[in-house]
Formats: sequence, structure tokens, C-alpha cells
Amino acid sequence: MTRIQVIMGTTRTGRFGERVAPWVLQRLAEHGLDVELVDLRDYPLPFFDQKPPSVTGRNYPMEDMARLGRKLDEADGFVILTGEYNHGYPAVLKNAIDHTFVEWQRKPVAFVGWGGVGGARVIEQLRLVAVELDMAPIRQAVHILPEVIRPAFRAHDPTDFSVFEPLEARLTALAEGLAWWATTLAAGRAAADQKDH
Ligand SMILES: Cc1cc2nc3c(=O)[nH]c(=O)nc-3n(C[C@H](O)[C@H](O)[C@H](O)COP(=O)(O)O)c2cc1C
Repeated sequence: MTRIQVIMGTTRTGRFGERVAPWVLQRLAEHGLDVELVDLRDYPLPFFDQKPPSVTGRNYPMEDMARLGRKLDEADGFVILTGEYNHGYPAVLKNAIDHTFVEWQRKPVAFVGWGGVGGARVIEQLRLVAVELDMAPIRQAVHILPEVIRPAFRAHDPTDFSVFEPLEARLTALAEGLAWWATTLAAGRAAADQKDH
């Protein structure tokens, strides 16, 4: 089964991602994907001050880095959930990314963003970061605009996904695109591994 990690990219108290994650997880599971939430709150890290992980690979200098690395290694693909902070990516998300490298390589990543322009600016920036990580950032994305954010924040039942109804088709397209890339690249990685041995 294709293993997809949904990464909660913000950690602040009262974050909107709490509303988004259950919806994304449920829909991806309904699509037949093996999904898991990876909450960056569970992987607290200092500001990055090590040698580049693109050089050190899995020779982790710190157990905290190793824990995150081992977790990311389990995935065939990722969905990053992110708010937009000053037209860019949340520092906590970029810091986690900077602590790792090989665990992301040759895997696809899709984005679900929110904010004044549906997280469009942060998602475009993260796509550039993903290319440097040797990933395949996919075309399909979900952009959550204020007209959905407001009622979603007000809703009391976190399992009531009706507020996300206008975005269901986009999430379906994301799931389909990600499943294709994750399966295809998993086969490619396996073939490359076999050639190396
Ligand atoms: C430090 C900070 C900067 C922000 N800058 C932007 C921004 O540039 N563009 C935007 O659309 N929203 C911005 N916002 C509003 C966020 O999109 C909104 O608070 C969102 O819920 C943040 O995601 P989170 O709740 O998961 O932390 C900012 C919020 C914070 C806390």
C-alpha cells in the first residue's frame, strides 16, 4: 500500500491546521492510501546548526534529527499542510526540512495551504524548496481561502467536513495525482536500489 505522510507544518497554539488535517487524512484514506499524520510539534528541533544533511545523509549527529529522519524515511509521498507567514513558509517547517534531505529524495509532495490568497505564495515557495530536495512537487494543490477558513474556525465539530465542500474536487484531484506519483516513484526507487546491489 502506498504510504503517505500528512505533515502538519505549523505548530502555534490555535493553528488552523487542526481543522484541516482530519479532513485531508480521511479523504486520502478513502482514496486507498495508507495515511499517517506527522505533527512537527512531536519533532521539536533547535535552529539548524549542523553540517548539511545532503552531505551527512543518515549519519545523524543528534537523536532528534534521527527520529524525524526515520519517520520521513517510511513514506512514499507527502502532503504538507501549511499556513502562510509573511508571504513565506513557517520557520518551523523550513527548519525541519533543513534538518533532513535524503529522506525526501525522489518522492512526490503535494500542498494544502491557507491564508488570504489560499496559501498560494507559500506553496509556490515550497515547490522551489522541494526541487532542491530532489522531490517531485505535484501540480495539484488545495488553496483554502478566508471564506472557508472563517466558517471552519467557527465550526464546533472537527469531524464535520461540510465547510470544505467547495474544495472536495481539488482534494480528490490532489489524492489522484499524489497516488500516481507516489506509486511510480516507489517503483523507480526500487529499480534503482536493485541496480545498486
Ligand atoms: C506570523 C504570521 C504571519 C502571517 N502572514 C500572513 C501572510 O503573509 N499571508 C497570509 O495570507 N496570511 C498570513 N497570516 C495569517 C495566517 O494565514 C493565518 O493565521 C493562518 O491561520 C496561519 O496558519 P496556522 O493557523 O496553521 O498557524 C500570518 C499569520 C502569522 C501568525
